[in-house]
Order: sequence, then structure tokens, then C-alpha cells
Amino acid sequence: MKISIQPIRPDFAGEVPDFAGEVHGADLRMPLSKEHVATIEQGMDRYAVLVFRDQYLSDDEQIAFTRKLGALENAQGGNITKDDEYRLKQGMIDVSNLDKNGNPFDRSDRRRMFNLGNRLWHSDSSYRAIPAKYSLLSARTVATRGGNTEFADMRAAYDALDDEMRAVIEDLVCEHSLLYSRGSMGFTELSQAERAAFKPVYQRLVRTHPVTGRKSLFLSSHIGTIVGWLVPEARDLIRDLIEHATQRDFVYAHVWRQSDFVIWDNRQTMHRVRRFDESQPRDMRRTTVAGDTATAVQPQSA
Ligand SMILES: [Fe+2]
Repeated sequence: MKISIQPIRPDFAGEVPDFAGEVHGADLRMPLSKEHVATIEQGMDRYAVLVFRDQYLSDDEQIAFTRKLGALENAQGGNITKDDEYRLKQGMIDVSNLDKNGNPFDRSDRRRMFNLGNRLWHSDSSYRAIPAKYSLLSARTVATRGGNTEFADMRAAYDALDDEMRAVIEDLVCEHSLLYSRGSMGFTELSQAERAAFKPVYQRLVRTHPVTGRKSLFLSSHIGTIVGWLVPEARDLIRDLIEHATQRDFVYAHVWRQSDFVIWDNRQTMHRVRRFDESQPRDMRRTTVAGDTATAVQPQSA
């Protein structure tokens, strides 16, 4: 098996030279050599998003491949779905619109309300003290209409800032929580236990990639404030930065095909899903590679 990677958007070479690559020659069900894994990891460092076509993975195969890239993240505390409502096996994150019986959620189902938060720009698990490294998403049943996933390059967004703004944000630390992203959608009907599980964590606003040394903006709609700032002034700055970081030149929109498999680096990107026809099943299954370090010292109470 010979794996190669081409940039998806060669037309964007001027503005963002290395964002989103398409991988050729890989069948992720097959045993992968150390060299294969190294090629994929180098591709992730360079492109931050990798697209694999025609990957007919079972859940077990997806988990086995994910483990080649690192430890699985513990999914606890990331959703409001109860254990006995869960559709998929442990280790799989369900980002479909389906209940346990495979039926699309009712309009007013609070799990649907909660999942609507995925339409906001975010970095997966930025609300965890140790945020996620990679997310891996397998398209088992694609939406009949809409449902693209858009990715924004947080390295390019950082590079495009002027010196004055870089100096302002260099050492800032933000508070991230699912309470903030869901609250900004107007979804606030959470139990005491859910609120306790979504306690805010601290993350640096500027982070440095451990391999490439490139700096990037660690933005997410999970941000509610900046430590030491007044909330309105913090939200004003964060809103401004998210607007800057998601301008079209920094964005790759993935149009899903059946059996696509996409990996992204949450340390270097944000993403969001777009609207789709929710009366039809959209079965997307994620696995997550855990991060290995916190970006900031956590608040005393965390
Ligand atoms: Fe996500």
C-alpha cells in the first residue's frame, strides 16, 4: 500500500498553502505499517485536515485505526445523552441525528437542541482541561441535502493578525464550557448534574503546534470569557477573532460523500456542521484521539 497526499485546494496556494489534503492509496481497514502511520501524521501536521474517500469501516475498524494515532479520548461529560439512550458502542461518539432506534430526533428533543451547538464554530473538546488532538469522522449515511462540514485554518488566521493584535492576545487565557456554547444558542435547560459536568476550563488563546512550531488561535464557541477581562469586552474580542478566523480564504468546506473519512487536528482548526434535512438520517460516527497536555493552568475549582 502506497499512501500519498495532495492538497485539496491548490487554487488557494497563495493565501493558505497547506490546508486540507486528500489522501490516496489508503485502505484504513488494512494493517498499517509504522511508515504508513508516519505518513498520515506528517500529513496531519502539514494539512491539519485529511480526507480519505471510500473507507468502508465498521465501528471496530474505526476504533482500531484511531488507536494507531493515539489513545481514545474518554467521551464522558461531552453530551447530555444518557448511557441507556446511547446508540453506539463505547468509544464511538454519535454525531448523527438519530435516536437509539435509528429514527431522527423529534424537533423538540433536547438532545437535538444540544447537538445544534455543533453548528457553531468550535474545536472539539476545548471544554476539557486536556483538549482533544484529532477527531476522526466517518460518513455512514450522508445527508440528502446540506450537512457540509466546514473547517477553518487557525494557523492562517493567526498569521494574518497584525503585530498589535498578536501582542494583545499572546498570553490570554479563555474560559471554555459547553454551558457557553449552548447558552449562546438559547439552550439553557440543563440539570444540576449537567451543569456540574460542564464546569469551565482554561485554555490559552494562542497555542503552538508541538511538531511544526506554528502558532495558531485556539478559538471555539465554547469560550465564555477571558480570564481577568470583563465578560462583554471578552466576548467582543472573541467574536471579532472568530469572524476574522472564519473568513472564506481560511475555510475548506467538505461536501460529504458516502464512506468519506475525515481527520482533523483540533489544535490547529475550528469546524462547524451546516444545516441539513433533519427528517432524513445523517449517520456520522466520530472517534477522538485524546490530547496529551493542558494549554493552561486550570482554575482552583476545576
Ligand atoms: Fe465538532
